[in-house]
Amino acid sequence: MEKRYLSGIQPSGDLHLGNYFGAIRQHIAAQENAFYFIANYHALTTVNDARLLREQTLQAAATYLALGLDPDRATLFLQSDVPEVTELTWLLATTTSKGLLDRAVSYKDKVAKGITPGVGLYLYPVLMAADILIYESDVVPVGSDQVQHVEMCRDMAASFNACYGEVFKLPAYEIGTPVPVPGTDGQKMSKSYGNTIPLFASRAELRQRVLGIVTDSLPLTAPKDPDRCTVFRLYRLVASEEQAAEMAEKYRAGGYGYGSAKAALLERIEETFDGPRKRYAALLARPEEVKKALRSGAARARRVAREVLERAREACGL
Ligand code: TRP
Repeated sequence: MEKRYLSGIQPSGDLHLGNYFGAIRQHIAAQENAFYFIANYHALTTVNDARLLREQTLQAAATYLALGLDPDRATLFLQSDVPEVTELTWLLATTTSKGLLDRAVSYKDKVAKGITPGVGLYLYPVLMAADILIYESDVVPVGSDQVQHVEMCRDMAASFNACYGEVFKLPAYEIGTPVPVPGTDGQKMSKSYGNTIPLFASRAELRQRVLGIVTDSLPLTAPKDPDRCTVFRLYRLVASEEQAAEMAEKYRAGGYGYGSAKAALLERIEETFDGPRKRYAALLARPEEVKKALRSGAARARRVAREVLERAREACGL
């Protein structure tokens, strides 16, 4: 049997180049036999606007489809279309110690930022563990911020198994090589910094964002260090190796200005994402097609979930 990859995708609006090079690209590259779901139950811990949540959920699914996720090879679905996962959350909660959840770093961070935590936020790692265990996942590809959650999942599975027998398979995680994606101000690209380059922006908006990238004020004639320039660091992500080497050469030689580099970057971004942008617009114009893909994904996912949940119910005497 091939290994099953599983990951949950937060339905945040306006996905950007940072999301693409940070996660989406890897997800799509490893899509054979993978389970990917839009984590809309988890999103309820931060979004409390039904219209917005529906919109962002659809956008996230359309983004994956537009960028090359093939719903016949990967199973793409909405977390909430398999409500069995919430029942498993409860079963796991009963064998999980409170101390384990108290140690969750992402929870502590949010509280430290001044959020008044709801019980749902506190239980977030238990729901995430249920997500992983209910699909008998072998490997969870994660960013470094989610490693602790997968370790907690392993702890929860082990406690449940210790109590009731070998019900759950313990998952492994795989940390992708981090790809640093700078935002227009040179800091890490992030929605919360307002420095993003959206994946599916209109040409006019894209142009405005790229022209707005902050550079130093070296004169045109001066030789420049490409690795310290945000324009070049972004170009390297979307260009071929030869193209990147060529631009680096021009930087070092001097006589090459940031205006020219930005124009080249803009062209490469447009070439790379023009096809997906059109597909994305077409999908959002016909949401039925997206919903159909999600429904068939959910049917497949649910078959596995029902079996595992039944095993867990049986094991604990329900
Ligand atoms: N917590 C993850 C994130 O913020 C999303 C997520 C929910 C997830 N359930 C999951 C990731 C299960 C991997 C496996 O990105």
